[in-house]
Amino acid sequence: PSLEEKIIPSIIRQPRKGVIIGAGQVGMACAYSLLIQNILDEIVIVDINQHKLAGEVMDLNHGLPFLEPTLIRAGTLADGENADIVIITAGAKQKPGETRLDLVNRNVEIFQSLIPEVVKYCSTAILLIITNPVDIMTYVCLKISGLPSSSVIGSGTVLDTARFRYLLSEKLQLDPRSLHAYIIGEHGDSEVPVWSKVNISGMHILDETREEDEQIEPELDKIFAQVKNAAYEIIQRKGATSYAIGLAVAQITQSILRNQNRVLTVSSLINNIHGIQDVCLSLPAVVNRQGVTRVLNLSLNQTELQQLQLSSQILRQIIEQLDL
Ligand code: LAC
Repeated sequence: PSLEEKIIPSIIRQPRKGVIIGAGQVGMACAYSLLIQNILDEIVIVDINQHKLAGEVMDLNHGLPFLEPTLIRAGTLADGENADIVIITAGAKQKPGETRLDLVNRNVEIFQSLIPEVVKYCSTAILLIITNPVDIMTYVCLKISGLPSSSVIGSGTVLDTARFRYLLSEKLQLDPRSLHAYIIGEHGDSEVPVWSKVNISGMHILDETREEDEQIEPELDKIFAQVKNAAYEIIQRKGATSYAIGLAVAQITQSILRNQNRVLTVSSLINNIHGIQDVCLSLPAVVNRQGVTRVLNLSLNQTELQQLQLSSQILRQIIEQLDL
């Protein structure tokens, strides 16, 4: 080697590369959030509607003079070689009044043709599923792909947890980053608020058995109802949710790409926790370059445990009806 190579060996840092499948409102909110936070060096966006995709990519690229450089391009899955992460938002979205579970058959059909192509071209990537119903779609992706369960994860209740923390912090006049609160289980109507663990600097805002705080019970129920129904309220007004899920995806992606070991309530395959077997749902999990390697065995009170097991049963029943 030359003198300079000997003294300063060149460190070829692999560019941080992501593929986003689906250039709808969610996919483009993910792209924009990743771009402005400079989380990736290259973003390939894939969509069946090439015409609209071209416009989206043009519009993002025209913003680059205001940002750190990121290579953004329209492409196909064949451009996904060496991608670190594939963010899957493709599929039918909820119409006003539809539940996330109503989408399952349409989106399973899409995944049956899509996922083998993803594995073929993006074999080194962590797969991050956003498509709803996200817990079912994460499980379906895991089964079709044949990839290790650590590397197939869903956005799960990361967004619900954020909504919970925002609404509680508004009530308590706190920075939402200083209030710790989790939503677990299904990203959907059976999701579970872990009231027994809501805390500010370790100080629980409720005692372990929430029932004794009946004077504030109605306020807490109202806050949780706002969390659970948030998507319906937004979809009814603007047709889809996008900004907050885009920011949630950016945070999950950052924890993967920078190997941060953040604890996030992503959806992952759960076995032998709280009697739950062979289903994808959200529990606080450690997210790093391998995806999810550790899931926290959260201690729950009786009500929370029963609600989580119900959530798991609802998801298992749907999975059993699918011929995977
Ligand atoms: C929501 C969608 C992402 O909860 O399911 O906004």
